[in-house]
Amino acid sequence: MITMLGSQMLKSQFPILSRRVNDKPLIYLDNAATSQKPQEVIEAISNYYSQHNSNVHRGAHQLSDESTNIFEESRHTIAKFFVADPEELIIARNTTEAINGVAYGWADNHLKEGDVIVTSFMEHHANFVVWQEVAKRTGAKLEFIGVDEQGRLKLDELEDKLKNLPVRLVALVHVSNATGTVNPIKKISKLIASHQKETPIRFLLDGAQSAPHMKIDFHQLDVDFYAFSGHKMLAPMGVGGLLVKKELLESGEMRPWLFGGGMIFSVLPEETEFNPDLAERFIAGTPDVASVVGLAAACEYLRKLDMRKVEQHDRELVFYTLEKLTQIPEIKIIGPTKPKAGQLLDRLGSVAFLYQAVHAHDVSQILDSQGVAVRSGHHCTMPLHNYFGWPATTRASFSVYTSKSDIDALIKGLEKIKQVFKS
Ligand SMILES: Cc1ncc(COP(=O)(O)O)c(C=O)c1O
Repeated sequence: MITMLGSQMLKSQFPILSRRVNDKPLIYLDNAATSQKPQEVIEAISNYYSQHNSNVHRGAHQLSDESTNIFEESRHTIAKFFVADPEELIIARNTTEAINGVAYGWADNHLKEGDVIVTSFMEHHANFVVWQEVAKRTGAKLEFIGVDEQGRLKLDELEDKLKNLPVRLVALVHVSNATGTVNPIKKISKLIASHQKETPIRFLLDGAQSAPHMKIDFHQLDVDFYAFSGHKMLAPMGVGGLLVKKELLESGEMRPWLFGGGMIFSVLPEETEFNPDLAERFIAGTPDVASVVGLAAACEYLRKLDMRKVEQHDRELVFYTLEKLTQIPEIKIIGPTKPKAGQLLDRLGSVAFLYQAVHAHDVSQILDSQGVAVRSGHHCTMPLHNYFGWPATTRASFSVYTSKSDIDALIKGLEKIKQVFKS
């Protein structure tokens, strides 16, 4: 059945959206922090526990067989959603763990004193603090690229560093959770490719905010690592993944970062041989099978909605929100508002803003009293907030069930701020 994005019919598939908050209908606009879950995902998890629960890859009884098959099928569904090979998908708890996986499984083994890691001032702390720690452990140097007034990466600074420094890793966000900027990944990949030296430069993409809003084709993106969180794309908390280019897995350049049962082929006192199966080599200990099943159900749900339509829906919401917010003189929007000549606006997923003379926490509290849930603060992008001198911002962020009437409720809620602060 085709369900219109943002329609009442679609909202009704998400049980929590029929809740009331502060005696008002819930208007949930905090999807960049985490999305709500459809009944299909909730049922997939419940069905797994009530019908199939057993440990995977370990037993020779029927339930273990079923559980193993469901787990493997789920991994295939998730990989297919991202147009990746199943062996290229490493299950992780979330984006943060996936990025840490690259730090421990790749960076610690390949970076040395004098090497350079390039990241940007636009990053979430997950793609920032991890590299500060790697720099401390390996002696590599951390370099940052700046952001312009429209919230776009200063690519000339990246080019300059690629040209003049021994760069080994570029770690960037795909879609910013603060400015909504969609970074031009193809252009950046090409730039990196044109500066490849004898020791290759690897490219990591933080996909936490792109996976929920646009079609991801891992092979077409042509990055070495892509990290994502399930909970931001309608799946349960506690599951996400790291996509790794197969050649890095086959060559052993990317190593496991967790060790123990499950990921081994043979264990002797002197030495352990890891599992030759690329996928299993990265599953140390018992995985969270039910959450992986839930993530596969979420991928299927999104696939049926069609990610091209999800992106289009998101663009319309961004456009509508920008149009409405620019009519409020007290508001200053952060991030791209003007498209580049001949291009679509490079912004998805959220609109964040400053409200003149009113702290973002007050803005969000007043909105909450009207049932409108938004986020306020630095959104784990303190370096970006400091870079521009923003004390804190308020962010409305969208999902497949968000409608223009939700944005209207936000705008109505914002009118209340004027009344409260006038009196
Ligand atoms: C761009 C970005 N990267 C990384 C993360 C971290 O995600 P998680 O907390 O699921 O690991 C977030 C979460 O908001 C994010 O928006």
